[in-house]
Amino acid sequence: KKIAVVMGGPSAEREVSLNTGRAILAALQEKGYNAVGIDLSPRHFVEQLNVEKIEVVFNAIHGLYGEDGLMQGTLEMLGIPYTGSGVLASAIAMDKAVTKRLFMAAEIPTPRSRLYNKNNAGYHLPDEILTEFGVPVVIKPTAQGSSIGVVIVEDAAEIGNAVAEAFKYSDRIIVEEFISGKELTVSILGNDKPEALPIIEIVPQSGRYDYKSKYTKGATEYIVPARLEPEITSLVQKIALDAYKLLGCRGIGRVDVMLDSNNKPYVLEVNTIPGMTATSLVPKAAASIGIGFADLCERILLMSAE
Ligand code: DAL
Ligand code: MG
Repeated sequence: KKIAVVMGGPSAEREVSLNTGRAILAALQEKGYNAVGIDLSPRHFVEQLNVEKIEVVFNAIHGLYGEDGLMQGTLEMLGIPYTGSGVLASAIAMDKAVTKRLFMAAEIPTPRSRLYNKNNAGYHLPDEILTEFGVPVVIKPTAQGSSIGVVIVEDAAEIGNAVAEAFKYSDRIIVEEFISGKELTVSILGNDKPEALPIIEIVPQSGRYDYKSKYTKGATEYIVPARLEPEITSLVQKIALDAYKLLGCRGIGRVDVMLDSNNKPYVLEVNTIPGMTATSLVPKAAASIGIGFADLCERILLMSAE
């Protein structure tokens, strides 16, 4: 079968996606698959698939069009199988505000937050945020990845700037309680019976796991498995699996979790197209239990047919 690794596209995470996609393409070719790379051009996507006679899509698009369910919808219409989550799970997971509503309804712990729209965000918003959350406080766009547009505000005078920064990326922003503690991520593989891989503990040298710390080699220390008591490990893996299943994710996902100083976990979000670059997390978790990068890509590919 002819496979397209679809990557790039117009999202703010375009460069990350190209790195993810190139790595996956090389891995599939190394495994002997008939795979080509396609740089997503939304208006010409169907044409791009037809020209190459594509039969399966390996989705490597982060963010807009690829992680939000739109490409999945197009592929459903065309009857072309694809890797990873379907339309609804993707659309939900891409939207941190909707995701958090579902977490709360299912009693999956998540940091306290409030959603603001551009329309109802008045002049007094910074004061409201300060009164309700204090500092530090986290301000982020609802639908972005790689920490783009996210600001952890320490100085109350900076709240207004952080709000403006987040609104650059979406019309809806989340203001979220800052959880200080360990930054963890749980990689998950599987369709109907998903399994959690070993937890990664993330220790950025700068103290902030931002875009630079995510994609600069050596900027962050990754500890696998995370330094946690066995019962905390089980608890964090369980809530991560609960989150993945709640949203109806398939194939692969990565659930980001903060653990406070009392070992209480908070789920931040679910990533349905986690990065697969040289510095990315899911490949590290897989490698820690002997699943090499090419094997990981093959597993994800084969799950698209289940
Ligand atoms: N959004 C980035 C690519 C990630 O989740 O890994
Ligand atoms: Mg994310």
